[in-house]
Amino acid sequence: MKVKGVILAGGNSSRLFPATKCFTKHFLTIYDKPLIYYPLSTLMLAGIRDILIIVKKNELDLYNKLLGNGEFLGLSITYEIQETPRGIADSLFICKKFVGNSNFYLILGDNLFFGTLFSKILNDSKKLKNKNSCLFVCEVDDPSEFGVLKFNKKNLPTEIVEKPKKNISNKVVTGMYFYKPKVFEYLKKIKKSSRGEYEISSINNFFLKNNDCKLIYLNRGFTWLDTGNADNLLQASQFVQAYQKRQGFMIACIEEIALSKGFIKLSQFYKLIKNHKNSKYGKYLRKIYENKKHKL
Ligand code: DAU
Repeated sequence: MKVKGVILAGGNSSRLFPATKCFTKHFLTIYDKPLIYYPLSTLMLAGIRDILIIVKKNELDLYNKLLGNGEFLGLSITYEIQETPRGIADSLFICKKFVGNSNFYLILGDNLFFGTLFSKILNDSKKLKNKNSCLFVCEVDDPSEFGVLKFNKKNLPTEIVEKPKKNISNKVVTGMYFYKPKVFEYLKKIKKSSRGEYEISSINNFFLKNNDCKLIYLNRGFTWLDTGNADNLLQASQFVQAYQKRQGFMIACIEEIALSKGFIKLSQFYKLIKNHKNSKYGKYLRKIYENKKHKL
């Protein structure tokens, strides 16, 4: 079955004012590329080619310029508008038509995932047999800003508490969710939270309480970052910089992923890169091209 992808990239990014006075954080750079490249590359690594990006109305033109219809990456990218930031689960109302009867990933536009065997982890998550959802869980030092897992005495997860005041556990639900269409049944029951939002944790709690949710724990070797405030943004940039400089590989290089996944041919890849001789990014792409060409 074809799996689709949804990126939620609306909201106001108010915690990053004034950096986000003209546009939301999704256009700010994480080291050397726009933030939106990171969740997009995650979906691409999962083999997803049919992608909906939910955006703020006044950013549609920017997205058309940056990613367009995605054809240059061998993708089909369409857009829907979120009129007001009504919460993360609001994205489910918006994407329902696009998703239809498919299974899909929902990923938050400000989340960055990086680790070995990531493609395999994503592949496994797609192959759910007896469950209708899959969540990715990570341990963090300060869980207060996230959806946090609560466990019973037998150490079984019983609930997700959104931004708890007290420490419940250090295991938090990351901003990537895999759902089957069953999610839309639960959506009918959702109510706004006390802070006036449709919380994604409310949806995930329906799955969890019905034992209808697979949890994938991302272990210590895995990096998950989100970029809600200036410190997180800088840390993410520093992480990407340190890795790229040391290893020489790029994180979230969407053209490279498109080529390696077979979404585009080498000749198409060349067309994308031939005019970008000056940037380090462009030089990296050229190196990939030369290597591939010599192997033919
Ligand atoms: O990053 C993981 C966390 O993301 C989860 O652990 C939490 O359960 C989940 O609620 C969420 O919490 P945040 O406080 O980090 O969400 P934030 O408001 O920062 O929004 C995350 C992304 O979603 C960001 O790219 C903006 C976008 N967004 C958010 C809202 C509320 C929208 O596009 N529309 C919205 O209405």
